[in-house]
Amino acid sequence: MNKIELKPGIYSVGVVDWNLRNFHSYSIHHGATYNAYLIVDEKITLIDTVMAPFSKELLDRISEIVDPSEIDYLISNHVEMDHSGAIPEVMKAATKAVIVTSSPNGLKGLKAHYGDDYPFMEVKAGDSLSLGTRSLTFVATPMLHWPDNMVTYCPEEKILFSNDAFGQHYISNKHFDDEADYSQLMKEAQNYYANILMPFGTQAKKAIAVVEGLDIEMIAPSHGIIWRSFVKEIIKEYKRFADGIMEDTALVIYDTMWHSTERIAHSIVEGFSKRGTNAVMLDLKVNDLSDIITQVLTARYLVIGSPTLNNNILPNVAALLSYLKGLQPRSKQGFAFGSYGWGGQSVGIVNQALEELGVEIIMDPIKINYIPSKEQLLEIENKVAAL
Ligand code: FEO
Repeated sequence: MNKIELKPGIYSVGVVDWNLRNFHSYSIHHGATYNAYLIVDEKITLIDTVMAPFSKELLDRISEIVDPSEIDYLISNHVEMDHSGAIPEVMKAATKAVIVTSSPNGLKGLKAHYGDDYPFMEVKAGDSLSLGTRSLTFVATPMLHWPDNMVTYCPEEKILFSNDAFGQHYISNKHFDDEADYSQLMKEAQNYYANILMPFGTQAKKAIAVVEGLDIEMIAPSHGIIWRSFVKEIIKEYKRFADGIMEDTALVIYDTMWHSTERIAHSIVEGFSKRGTNAVMLDLKVNDLSDIITQVLTARYLVIGSPTLNNNILPNVAALLSYLKGLQPRSKQGFAFGSYGWGGQSVGIVNQALEELGVEIIMDPIKINYIPSKEQLLEIENKVAAL
């Protein structure tokens, strides 16, 4: 294996999980990396680990650089198992290592996962740890996205080890942002933020404010590519996401049984097009939910449609609404639409769900019996165009 050196004496020793496609229901299209970093100083330090099945690969990479028994500190920025899963195997080899974790929630989480039988050192925001020629300072980022989260800053090297923050599931055999396809990298960063961090905009803003106060040359996240040439750009993107800055884009998201709801969707898109708004048709049968959520993050309009099935909405629409409820997109505008044969409950259900999400309802729900006529479709188009 080739050594990946961020700076002299600082190595990336994590792994690539090429086959991962589902991360607690978040779709991953090309796999994921679990990045861990090794700092060789007077005190040898490992920052984060990897998922448990990759423990041996992590230890093999470390062993190319130092004997794992020489590790003094294991910094656990985050308890979630994609970063802590290898702790038991690492600690078997790193016999003198102390696990450094946030107080109190990191310690609580690690003990709940791996027991009490490890030497722990609790740190709080602003605490510093000397490694010899370098030091590490800990920055608390609670609820970004677990209570225990922290990031670790090395002022001498100007590197921020940011764990989940600024991560992406951009997978390749490249390691740095200037080696990656820029637009694809930024898209993956947005996809990651939308699906993992969207509910935590307030916490993200606080964390960004702290990060902006640091002198950073490199951001080394726990997923994906390391930022060294586009540090300012990714921080700016995070500010945009956290501030809820939106584009004049309408997402018309629907499922359909016999194409009536789809016809209404087409008219809505035509209406938005007439008023100069970018509009996107997203059939839930053919679009990945996680990819839709990526677009939800920055779209102003959220328009959702379902026909009525068994006095209810279609299951795909229910899944979308349930996912949105947890992700809490902010400051959207929208409305509900759909067709029905009898009963006709679906549109009311979608409308209520939009209201509960805090979406500003900008048009009465569109509810069409059986098949929309040409006149009805034109009327919908004109109504939307006049919004
Ligand atoms: Fe990458 Fe919250 O774990």
